Parts: sequence; C-alpha cells; structure tokens
Amino acid sequence: MSDTKRVALVTGASSGIGRETAILLAKEGYEVIGAARRMDRLTELAGQVEGIRPVDVDLSDTDDLEKFCEHISGLPEPVTALINNAGYSLRGALEDVSIEAARRMFQVNVFALMRITQACLPGMRKMRGGTIVNLSSMAGKFAFPGSGPYAATKHAVEAITDALRVEVRPFGIRVVTIRPGFIATEFNDVANTLTGDLFARTDPDYKPVYETSGKAIGSMFAGVTVPGPELIAGIVAEAVLSDSPRIVYHAGLFSEEFLGKRAGLDDEGFDEYLSDMTGLKDLKL
Ligand SMILES: NC(=O)c1ccc[n+]([C@@H]2O[C@H](COP(=O)([O-])OP(=O)(O)OC[C@H]3O[C@@H](n4cnc5c(N)ncnc54)[C@H](OP(=O)(O)O)[C@@H]3O)[C@@H](O)[C@H]2O)c1
Repeated sequence: MSDTKRVALVTGASSGIGRETAILLAKEGYEVIGAARRMDRLTELAGQVEGIRPVDVDLSDTDDLEKFCEHISGLPEPVTALINNAGYSLRGALEDVSIEAARRMFQVNVFALMRITQACLPGMRKMRGGTIVNLSSMAGKFAFPGSGPYAATKHAVEAITDALRVEVRPFGIRVVTIRPGFIATEFNDVANTLTGDLFARTDPDYKPVYETSGKAIGSMFAGVTVPGPELIAGIVAEAVLSDSPRIVYHAGLFSEEFLGKRAGLDDEGFDEYLSDMTGLKDLKL
C-alpha cells in the first residue's frame, strides 16, 4: 500500500460504524485518533483496544471544530487514513424540520467533514499518499419522503467527495465514498430522539402522510435482519488497506435494491417506484 505512516482519524468513533472501524484499523496497526463527544465511550474503547486515542470534539460547534482541526494540523505525524464518519439524521416533512436543526445537521454532516478534510490534506499532499473515506448513504443518491434534509446532507457529501477524488488523485491521495443501506446502530434512536414527536407537532394534514408512509416503510422490515456496523467497518478497512480501492462501495439492507432502481430508472420511473414503495402514490387528501 502507498501509506508510509500509520495514523488514522475516525470521526464518530464512540458508536456504530465509527467504533467498529476504529477497532479494525487499530488491530491493523494504525494509531487511531477516535473523535466524538462522548468521552466516556471513547475512553472505555481505548481501554479495551490498544492503539486508540480518544479526542473530545463537538462537530456542531464551530469553535470546537477549529480547535480540533488545529490539533490535527499540529500532529507530529500526518493523518494517512481519514474516515469522515460522524453524522446523524433528522426526520420530518419539510414543513416539520426547523431551519436551525437542518443547519446544525449540515454543520456536522457536511461542513465539519469539509473542514477536517482541509486539516488533513496538507500532510497527505506532502507525503503524496493517504486515503480519505467519506460516509455517505444510499440517501446520497435519492431521498425518502420525510428525510429530505438528511438526504440533502448526503448528496452534498457525494458531490464534495466526487470533486475531491479527482482534485487530489495527482498527489496519490485516494478518496472513497461509502453508501450504507440500513445498518443496526444507534443511528435510528438518535434520529428519533432529535426528531421528537412529529405527530404531536405536525399539522393534521400531514398525519395521513406519516401514517401511510410509516406503515409502508415499516412493512419492508418485517422478517428481515438488519446487518450490524461490522459490515460497513469491514468495507472501510478494506478500502484503507487496499492498493487500489474502488471509488464507491455500497452495502447494507436495501442498498442493492434502492441504488439499483435509482441507477436503472429515469427520474419519472424512480419517482413512481418510490411513491409506490412508500405507499404515497395513490394517497389523495
Ligand atoms: N446506520 C445506518 O443505517 C446508516 C445508513 C446510511 C448512512 N449512515 C451513516 O453512517 C455514519 C455513522 O452512523 P452510525 O450508523 O454508526 O450512527 P451512530 O451509531 O449514531 O454513530 C454516529 C457517530 O457520530 C458521532 N456524532 C454525532 N454528532 C456528533 C457531533 N456533534 N460531534 C461529534 N461527533 C458526533 C456520534 O458520537 P457522539 O454522539 O459521541 O458525539 C457517533 O459516534 C453517519 O454518517 C451516518 O449518516 C448510517
């Protein structure tokens, strides 16, 4: 592999995909900087797995993010594997998502990813190598109703990743997009907590929309097993360790089906497919 130094930075290492990725990379001999807000989780992880160094950062706080990036820029060894993983989702029809909450989500899912990447790139350019792995989502290629702002953050991640990949390829830096489908982590609980009680606050007009789509989406999960975060972490580690990683990977529940349809159908066809899948095609109110 082209990496000469072995420092990895994993954002969102306190749970889910980030935690499993930090563990795998540490076991591969990387010195892993694991960043998140919940230091208790990170400290516990560092106590269990040798080679993980916890760093406390709130990516929604621009001052904290700057301090963190100064720390990263000042490291004696450059980051050779950057895993931009931290992120979360909010749910709700557009009318039910506050601009302030959407802005905070963009700050974490998009602007922090950009800023941390900027902090790591000079070191990578200098050594003419390194790997950047950005966690997008299958929602980076289409949008479920009731999840537009989250999908918008992941569409932004896709665009930034695509441009960056070509910009820095001349320096030997590899840039990889990962598009998970549904994965069993704390992601769902976090989204529910941050979204709050949509039913209690929405206009009565929207209740049938939520009920219908909730029922249709819920029925998709009947009898299926949602894979755990190890699935995606394994792919991230594979991309980092490979001599020639693919530019895009996808895995996880329904990723094949939805991304396949999105790639195979035109805009009209996909709109019809998704309206049908979410039960909203024939709903008239
Ligand atoms: N699970 C899925 O179904 C799924 C599907 C597609 C894409 N993804 C993407 O995969 C990535 C990882 O998600 P996951 O499923 O592993 O979810 P998770 O278990 O909820 O982990 C999210 C991580 O992000 C960190 N984070 C959130 N807000 C932060 C903030 N303000 N500052 C610093 N860190 C913050 C959390 O740490 P703290 O709370 O400790 O700060 C946590 O470690 C996300 O980008 C997500 O969008 C997930």
